[in-house]
Amino acid sequence: MLQMMSLISRRRSELAIDFGTSNLRLIRRDEGIVFDEPSLCCFSDLDRVPILTAAGTAAWAMIDRTPRQLDVRRPLRRGVLQDIRTATHLLIYAIDRAGSRQRLAATRAVIGVPADATQAERQALLTMAGDVGLRSARLVSEPFVAALGAELPVDAPCASMIVECGAGTTEVAVISLGGICITRSVRIGGASLDQGITDHLHLRHKFLIGQQSAEQLKKDYVRGKLGQPTPIQIRGRSLATGLPAVLEISSRDLDNVVEKHVAQITDVIRDVLNATSPELSRDIHTHGIVLTGGGALMAALRELIEHDTGLPTRVANDPTRCVAHGLHRILSH
Ligand SMILES: Nc1ncnc2c1ncn2[C@@H]1O[C@H](COP(=O)(O)OP(=O)(O)OP(=O)(O)O)[C@@H](O)[C@H]1O
Ligand SMILES: [Mg+2]
Repeated sequence: MLQMMSLISRRRSELAIDFGTSNLRLIRRDEGIVFDEPSLCCFSDLDRVPILTAAGTAAWAMIDRTPRQLDVRRPLRRGVLQDIRTATHLLIYAIDRAGSRQRLAATRAVIGVPADATQAERQALLTMAGDVGLRSARLVSEPFVAALGAELPVDAPCASMIVECGAGTTEVAVISLGGICITRSVRIGGASLDQGITDHLHLRHKFLIGQQSAEQLKKDYVRGKLGQPTPIQIRGRSLATGLPAVLEISSRDLDNVVEKHVAQITDVIRDVLNATSPELSRDIHTHGIVLTGGGALMAALRELIEHDTGLPTRVANDPTRCVAHGLHRILSH
């Protein structure tokens, strides 16, 4: 297929890992996606020795609801592995759940990594792979893999522009002839937008909500068309009374938060476009921008990027799983 792919798959790998800030996905060459759950672990430390009590989906419901002896942890922050021990626990849990534990010592793996990851960040992923007992691991660049998963013509002598909108990072890349021509990223994503919504309600309305409520609010958010703002009801705690309460706001109230978030992404897109050669620019002008990652599911993102850049912008099929689909293509090659 393409040069980069042949380098990646010099030795055939059986397992691929998309370790995201929000979700962990495991892909097997013969079965496709075999695990897709939140990147979360819950530990109990009754005897000062942390013991894994829940992980993935089971740990999700525990966020912000744990008694003192339980602790819910995310191994990644802003797209970067921060806690290798938690990551190793979660990966072993996922591998067990996927029934892939046999022959682990003979298994070669491919792992997605942000294109701008530092050497230390890359090394952390390789250390984790060694700690779970994998035979070897090869790192591949996430925006390139997302473009493969979105079925863009990555091999063609023609530019494809991809914006991979994850929970912790947003990566912009121009791809042509089987490789990345230019890439930039910013360590913001769905999680920082959730935080922005939480902060806004706190400061503006003196109203507290938790992580899950903020994420749900973001998913329910629809930008009001001119003159048609949507009413939203939010459950949380009023700072004025200290009591559980319902806050009623208009969707327009959140427009500012969302617009500020998207403006940071369009700044990166502009940077990339500024550094792109004229021929590649011409291709992008013709074919536009493709959005992948869970963040692409928010309709306002596509609308605002298209409006701000003036370029046709579309969301890939099954955007949240584009990296996983791309990794599967690498394994199958
Ligand atoms: N319908 C939706 N509307 C808006 N955002 C959504 C929607 N569905 C999922 N998301 C957001 O997408 C993000 C998860 O996407 P994804 O799984 O691509 O991230 P990730 O791979 O875990 O993160 P990263 O690659 O940045 O480390 C979360 O922030 C989630 O809230
Ligand atoms: Mg991701």
